[in-house]
Amino acid sequence: MEIIVLPTARQVGAAAARIIAAVVHTAPDAVLGLATGSSPMEVYRSLRTLVEHGDLDLSRTRGFALDEYVGIPLDHPQSYAAVIAREVVGPLRMNPSLVLVPDGRDRDVARAAERYEAAIRDAGGIDVQLLGIGTNGHIGFNEPTSSFASRTRAKTLTPSTRADNARFFADADDVPTHCLTQGLGTILEARHLVLVAQGSAKAAAVATAVEGPVSSFCPASALQLHPRATVLLDEDAAAGLTLRDYYDHIQRQKDRLAIP
Ligand code: GLP
Repeated sequence: MEIIVLPTARQVGAAAARIIAAVVHTAPDAVLGLATGSSPMEVYRSLRTLVEHGDLDLSRTRGFALDEYVGIPLDHPQSYAAVIAREVVGPLRMNPSLVLVPDGRDRDVARAAERYEAAIRDAGGIDVQLLGIGTNGHIGFNEPTSSFASRTRAKTLTPSTRADNARFFADADDVPTHCLTQGLGTILEARHLVLVAQGSAKAAAVATAVEGPVSSFCPASALQLHPRATVLLDEDAAAGLTLRDYYDHIQRQKDRLAIP
């Protein structure tokens, strides 16, 4: 796992955007794994600047969202379909028909999950998967105790996740109770995982994910099993790391030797 600590959230977003842009420059029809929540917003802001300056063309790039609430109306502003359309597809000038979100409205959630897995497979898998992390260590909506072998499926949200996400809804009771999420097994098949975290509220989850034991109790610790995982943190999110000096040392060495 490569751990990079940067001074500000803005720089975290810019660094993740550079990784994504490099992939798309090499393969304009690359497949991106897209995340929602507040963590990736700086990434999308940086990508938007590149697109607007003509330095990046995402019109042929494909996308798969990580997750969606079950039962939320498609036009609800907090459905992840709406968030992805508003925050990602529109501003980044992506082709809406090339970007998919799990269908949380299908009454047969198992069928919707299978369709989603098949679509990812048919696209040739995900080249770079952007991830945030929940305060309880979840990635996507894989809550603690999720199997590392899990595929896209319905999950019950923990009370802590519903409380964390209540800020997006008018009333805490409006937060859906269930979701459809790519599984940890699905996420681990992406060719490059890029996790971004900012702010002190994420410090404990980040430290457990990066330096704690690999455990389904902290789903983000699954990144330790991946051959190519990059963790981009601002100072506050990195505050709980024991080996912080070592990670900085590695980055300085890389800069000195110009290792990409
Ligand atoms: C959300 C999403 C995750 C996200 C995480 C953290 O509910 N399902 O994909 O990474 O929880 O959210 P935030 O970035 O808003 O802190």
